[in-house]
Amino acid sequence: MAASRRAFLGFGSWLAMQAALRAEPGGPQPGNESYWRMLRGHFPLEDGLLYFNAANIAPASRGVLDRYHLYLRDFESNPSFQNRGKYDPMREQVRVKLARLLHADPDEIAITRNTSEGTNTLINGLDLKPGDEIVISEHNHQSNNEAWTVRARRHGWVVRALPVSFPARSVDQIVDQHAKAFTPRTRVVGLTHVTNVTGLRMPVREIGEIARRRNIWVHVDGAQSFGALNVNLSAMQCDSYATSTHKWMMGPLEAGVLFVRKDRVSQVWPSIVTAGWKDDLKGARRLENLGQRDDARLAGIEAAADFLELAGMANIEARVLALARAFQDRARELPVKVWTNRETELSAGVIKLSTGEANVKAHYDLLWKRHRLAISSTASGPAHGLRFSPHIYNTMEDLDRAVRALKAVVS
Ligand SMILES: Cc1ncc(COP(=O)(O)O)c(C=O)c1O
Repeated sequence: MAASRRAFLGFGSWLAMQAALRAEPGGPQPGNESYWRMLRGHFPLEDGLLYFNAANIAPASRGVLDRYHLYLRDFESNPSFQNRGKYDPMREQVRVKLARLLHADPDEIAITRNTSEGTNTLINGLDLKPGDEIVISEHNHQSNNEAWTVRARRHGWVVRALPVSFPARSVDQIVDQHAKAFTPRTRVVGLTHVTNVTGLRMPVREIGEIARRRNIWVHVDGAQSFGALNVNLSAMQCDSYATSTHKWMMGPLEAGVLFVRKDRVSQVWPSIVTAGWKDDLKGARRLENLGQRDDARLAGIEAAADFLELAGMANIEARVLALARAFQDRARELPVKVWTNRETELSAGVIKLSTGEANVKAHYDLLWKRHRLAISSTASGPAHGLRFSPHIYNTMEDLDRAVRALKAVVS
């Protein structure tokens, strides 16, 4: 097939989506249901599937997938160095787009494989000494907790995990708790912007301000914020931030971003040094050489970044928060206990609730088998329960169906 015809087929769904999103009257206002219903039509989700698990993996739209696949097919049909020459400039273009979405400088962006890799790169790269302290939270993901603990065991660092009350009492309580935990030996605080455990949004900027005044490195896990919230890294008061493209960004699987502030990046050793690594690589590029990668995936990341720009990050945030709020409000009318805070400053797109510890597995299975409602769950422990994470491809009708399904299993 001629290259131009292939390109047309690959970009056709993207161009159709772009035109439709631009033409929809009223635009991406949070309450403009016809816009979001139309947008839903561009996601190749199975009919009847109620997909409420963006906190784990969010599907990519057809336009994004097709742009990625177009490049993948092109790569495999001609893997010559000549044909792959396009990926070096594309990588830089993607870096610029990711930086723009995150309100950062392109030199502060490393393209990784996921949040876990970004956080581990940071943990392994910091030059800490025996006895140095790291403050983390009990509700951090394992990649931001166990990874610190394992390294600490090897190097003699001291890790202190702070307990989390949920629902949280207030922003001030969390900030005070962290401020009190810092000692003259504290070198790093490992935070989570929005936790996957209860959906708590942490006051990372406020904690970061206190920590950075004490020269404590602030690392933020942004797996549950990038693509859901209009993340502004230049205002966040963090030194590093890691996220994935396959969650709320609705991008390709197995890609991510590690942001490291320009004035701090020289303090991070690269963990994996491969062909192409040079001491004079600029900024966070020093942290991203990992041998041959799936170059075509860059096209998928770029398409996902273009998609977020097209709908507008502020509009996406407003819609995600509106969906989460609507779901929470409706769930609170049922016999369930919502672990997630209701206040916007302490919550985002993830909602966790309990229908009773003994019921978790049964209710999770029933929601899937009877209602095709795909969510996540925590089988036991204090934060046991069912986790719902609706995203912009979920319509209000989906939300109604999900609440009706929940009602049916708990009544
Ligand atoms: C808060 C948080 N951090 C990190 C991760 C790990 O993400 P990934 O598997 O993309 O590295 C997850 C996954 O759910 C998460 O929720």
